[in-house]
Amino acid sequence: MKKIDISSNINGIKLTSCIMNASGVLCCTEKELSEIMMSSSGAVVTKSCTMIPREGNLEPRYFKWNMGSINSMGLPNLGIDFYLNFLEKKKPKKPFFLSISGLSIEENYQLIRKANLSPNINAIELNLSCPNLIEKKDQGLLGYDFYKTSDFLDNLFKFYKKPLGVKLPPYFEDFHIKKMAFILNQFPICFVTCINSLPNGLFIDINHETTVIHPKKGFGGIGGSIIKPFALANIRKFYIYLRKDISIIGCGGICSGKDVFEHILCGASAVQVGTQFFQEGIQVFDRLKKEFISILRKKNYFSIENFKGQLNVI
Ligand code: SIN
Repeated sequence: MKKIDISSNINGIKLTSCIMNASGVLCCTEKELSEIMMSSSGAVVTKSCTMIPREGNLEPRYFKWNMGSINSMGLPNLGIDFYLNFLEKKKPKKPFFLSISGLSIEENYQLIRKANLSPNINAIELNLSCPNLIEKKDQGLLGYDFYKTSDFLDNLFKFYKKPLGVKLPPYFEDFHIKKMAFILNQFPICFVTCINSLPNGLFIDINHETTVIHPKKGFGGIGGSIIKPFALANIRKFYIYLRKDISIIGCGGICSGKDVFEHILCGASAVQVGTQFFQEGIQVFDRLKKEFISILRKKNYFSIENFKGQLNVI
């Protein structure tokens, strides 16, 4: 039987499997990161970190139902030094993506400067899309502010020369995706991860007539299978509008091998698993890999390059 290769290449960063964890889920502590390191995940992506450790928002801050999840975690993380030390100590044999999410643009510069000094990071995933920060109540997501994003990237690429990708919020208009792609195309961006959770969702417990999470009066980011169509739409449009050397990492609604296939068919070079990883634990990577390979076998494909981006319109 011919071997099916699900490896991928994110702008020069080689992954033995195109399926990896999404930042945010079970990737905060040493134990969680070590588990990902030992698993069949194609890379290790850290929890988005800040300069100093954070407890995050008050609980309950995560809820899952059959079609998705709502969260308002508020970036609980152990601080950038912890993740850089983990990398130096453990030296993972797979790509290591440091996710960062400063509470201000200034903090993002500090984080990037610090990461710049670390020789072993494969790439930074710059999170422009965390919807759950109580401190930023009156400011929108950076990823929705086109002018600020452009200015920010312009300044950071003056001193940062290593691979960097951005994690974007979902966009709902073609015009917005075109505009963001136009901005990103002007910089040496290595990859784009789309999408982060859908901001400002609300899920309700009708028995108790309450919200299901506490922070931000119950509003939070929606993830899981319910957001897959938005993820696919963003991947597809960015695939069309971005420079061809900018890879896309799909994120949103990956629960099965079929979902992985759909993301790649739309143009993703790799996928990240969040809600389903939280639900199922570390074995999710083996299961998804098996299901994905079985689809490729049935379709007579031997690598993701056989169908990546080749979605047809009826
Ligand atoms: C969080 O910690 O609130 C989630 C992170 C994110 O959505 O970017």
